[in-house]
Amino acid sequence: MCGIVGYVGGQQAAPLLLEGLARLEHRGYDSAGVAVLGGSGQRLAKRAGRVRDLSEALPKRFAGKVGIGHTRWATHGPATDANAHPHLDEASAVAVVHNGIIDNASTLRRQLTDAGVELASDTDTEVLAHLVARSDADTLEGKVRETLSYVEGTYGIAVTHADFPDRIVVARNGSPLLVGVGEKEMFVASDLAAIIRHTTAVAHLDDGEMATVTATGFTTVRHTDGAATAREAVAIDVDADQYEAGEHESYMHKEIHEQPASAARVLRGRLDERFGTAHLGGLGLDNRELRAIRRVKILGCGSAFYVGQMGAGLIEELARIPADAEAASEFRYRNPIVEPDTLYVVVSQSGETIDTLLAVEEVRRKGGRCVGLVNVVGSAIARACDGGIYLHAGPEVAVASTKALTNMFLGFALLALQLGRVRDLSIADGKRLIAGLERLPDQIAEILEGEADLAEAAKELAAAESLFFVGRVRGFPVAREGAQKFKEISYRHAEAYQTSELKHGPLALISPQVPTVAVVPDDELTERNVAALHEIAARGGPLWVVTHPGVDLGDVPARRIEVPRNEVELDPILLTVPLQVLAYHAAASLGLDVDKPRNLAKSVTVE
Ligand code: AGP
Repeated sequence: MCGIVGYVGGQQAAPLLLEGLARLEHRGYDSAGVAVLGGSGQRLAKRAGRVRDLSEALPKRFAGKVGIGHTRWATHGPATDANAHPHLDEASAVAVVHNGIIDNASTLRRQLTDAGVELASDTDTEVLAHLVARSDADTLEGKVRETLSYVEGTYGIAVTHADFPDRIVVARNGSPLLVGVGEKEMFVASDLAAIIRHTTAVAHLDDGEMATVTATGFTTVRHTDGAATAREAVAIDVDADQYEAGEHESYMHKEIHEQPASAARVLRGRLDERFGTAHLGGLGLDNRELRAIRRVKILGCGSAFYVGQMGAGLIEELARIPADAEAASEFRYRNPIVEPDTLYVVVSQSGETIDTLLAVEEVRRKGGRCVGLVNVVGSAIARACDGGIYLHAGPEVAVASTKALTNMFLGFALLALQLGRVRDLSIADGKRLIAGLERLPDQIAEILEGEADLAEAAKELAAAESLFFVGRVRGFPVAREGAQKFKEISYRHAEAYQTSELKHGPLALISPQVPTVAVVPDDELTERNVAALHEIAARGGPLWVVTHPGVDLGDVPARRIEVPRNEVELDPILLTVPLQVLAYHAAASLGLDVDKPRNLAKSVTVE
């Protein structure tokens, strides 16, 4: 949520900062700004709107070889020019950009106004600039450390100061920050994407750590006591092209189409065909410990929560262990009972979602064991867990998650297989599922070949203001995820329901203006699902049915969207893929920015 980039070196900073901000824009895109240090002190340009608006408005003379930039997702105060970052102190000596939330900002704002400071914005961040400016410490590092001693909350910050024009000081507490090492130039960023074209030698800061960065190097200390932490940069093995949309019209389109390859990656090296099981060494659990698990609790937010529900279903079916998923954002607020023989599985693409991270901390505080299914390597959630597996989906840029979710499902399938095989799941069933998993990447590709037809259906669905997505048991989380994707990027009201629950209330809303997308796989519930379709059709509700070839829908007037057959346990993910494509084309047909839907951001690092 929000993006930070900074540069210190021999080049003009502004173009590099703007380029970095453009690459970070998915993290927050309601306003943007840059501050550079030139001969005459801080120069500032910031405004509400997109990075391209900022680029167009940038004054011609904006020279300076040290600078910081920011894309914002508003928390304190609306998206206005004044609230955009960077924030300066009154004398325009200090510039600060900040991700996260200062919890005691209102107290600090009051103390500053009582002391005669005129605040220029509604933000929590501005207090940092004033506090740094008022510190008596004789180094910038000292001023920032003193400031942070007054601050409660989460932050990743970058600070420049006209009196210390050769450096940027950055600090982290709950919001990611890294230092990138170049040739006589250095970068700072909240996300590698911002600097990937310039360096892949990076040092990720830990919470409680700060770095002083000059053109020739950096030093790190703990900001609590100033003790050196001697962090070093490491080379990250990543291809910069993975961060580009390339030939695709959007990142979401690219990421949907990457799924056959990314799905194959998460399975690679983890399937044991001989014994019909999976090997997830990263869990750090031996067979005895796996057998001792009596319950599985899955925690994630948004779509990760819905995939978690699919995962719970898989675990119950294959391992016969009671399993359920819960929104991580709610978990810690109900004083949860944490049991030693429950395995807590947290699931997150970014590995940064604060609600999920705090759920991990709640579990661990109470002595529970947490494993993570996480995409971003080395992320806060991955590090906070006792073990886990990486999802290997590659960088996901579009706000609407697609390929990472598919790999989450596959991660759950692997986990369920391993848990099942140390219990009652037979070797024959294990082998059957492995064969099914191996077929999945090609089957996803097959679904994507039908994109043109899905695009036509999407146009019709996009014409409705309100839609239902319905499914039962394995199909219900599919419906939830389908509705989520649709509403997230097309801004249509899309509500997910259990098909069986329609008649208990929502059937009242069915009309010719309210289409339903029904998930009807060929399984033990097909007949009941078809009966519900009749009830919808009888009320004039237009129907699209996501189903398998050969499923008899009787005389229900429905449009069919077919997915290939696999093992029934694995159906949910194949049923989900066309719903991603529908959502994508619905939003595209409405002319919306699919990668950056309004009011949202890629990683939700605020509570
Ligand atoms: C997915 O399309 C959404 N943008 C959102 O619900 C997301 O899945 C959620 O915020 C969790 O993110 P995470 O996987 O990075 O933790």
